[in-house]
Amino acid sequence: MYDFFSPYREIIPDFNSFIDSLNRPAPIHLRVNRIKAEPEKVVQILEERGITLKPMGDEGKRFFEASNLKSSGNLPEYFSGYIHPQALSSCLASMVLAPHRECLVLDMCSAPGGKTAHMADIMGNSGLIIANELYPTRHIPLGHTLTRLGVLNVIYTEYQAQEFPLKQRFDFIMADVPCSGEGRIRKQDESSNSYPSKPHPGDKLLDLQKKMILRGFDLLKDGGTMLYSTCTYNPLENEGAVQFLLNNRDAELLPIDITFPHMNGLTEFNGVSYDRQLYRAARFYPHHLNSVGFFMARIGKRG
Ligand SMILES: C[S@@+](CC[C@H](N)C(=O)[O-])C[C@H]1O[C@@H](n2cnc3c(N)ncnc32)[C@H](O)[C@@H]1O
Repeated sequence: MYDFFSPYREIIPDFNSFIDSLNRPAPIHLRVNRIKAEPEKVVQILEERGITLKPMGDEGKRFFEASNLKSSGNLPEYFSGYIHPQALSSCLASMVLAPHRECLVLDMCSAPGGKTAHMADIMGNSGLIIANELYPTRHIPLGHTLTRLGVLNVIYTEYQAQEFPLKQRFDFIMADVPCSGEGRIRKQDESSNSYPSKPHPGDKLLDLQKKMILRGFDLLKDGGTMLYSTCTYNPLENEGAVQFLLNNRDAELLPIDITFPHMNGLTEFNGVSYDRQLYRAARFYPHHLNSVGFFMARIGKRG
């Protein structure tokens, strides 16, 4: 584990604590789905079942760590669509993009739908979200998620995100792109010592991410906002992709204003400099926020 991540020693603060955190399983986080349920009521029901809920952040009792829960998938509240198990860092992406009610939203890479459903919740199930996912088999879990959670403001498409038709422009775009997934590497459970196999982005993936961020930006209305996110620490997939956008389009990085612990984006790695604006991006590490490692950049198109 240490060797695998050692290229990031210089950029991850308190590196030994970071490695220690990877040796512990990630906690289960639950998001309360306000489309179907009142957060206070759901908390009461779950606590009556003996589930210990720790509120995460001061965001009005919507996100909880369920410390003594092994799995949420067999709870009646899961089937009823009152709760959705979702990594906290993944929840933050939709919160940071913060799509407005009645707006037109594109989710470029939607399955299995955690962020799509959360955006629908934030939008009060109003407006319209285009949930795009390339692989037909991934539309099945996507449909199940959105149906269970009572989402009504979504239609599905099946395009290559990097070639999504330019006929329509969007107010908000979620570009939660395919990535090497390093942020998901954690010890799986207390009894296991096995880790996922070593991922590596490869030029094809890096190229795809660059094409997606460019197409996402081109699909924005003037004055629109896009969130580019990954669950990896690799600067090539994160700051590198955003830098590619800045080199090729008149994009600006917008501040990310959240109280959850995070570090700024990098402006230098391995002798490569990135635009100063990159400090406005956010990096989430599991020893700061006990969840999936994550990167996000909020990008604006000038009006
Ligand atoms: C990081 S996952 C998205 C997770 C999702 N946003 C969520 O919160 O549940 C990336 C998704 O992109 C899909 N994908 C891969 N290549 C794609 C492409 N060229 N165009 C559109 N989707 C693609 C993958 O099948 C995968 O479902």
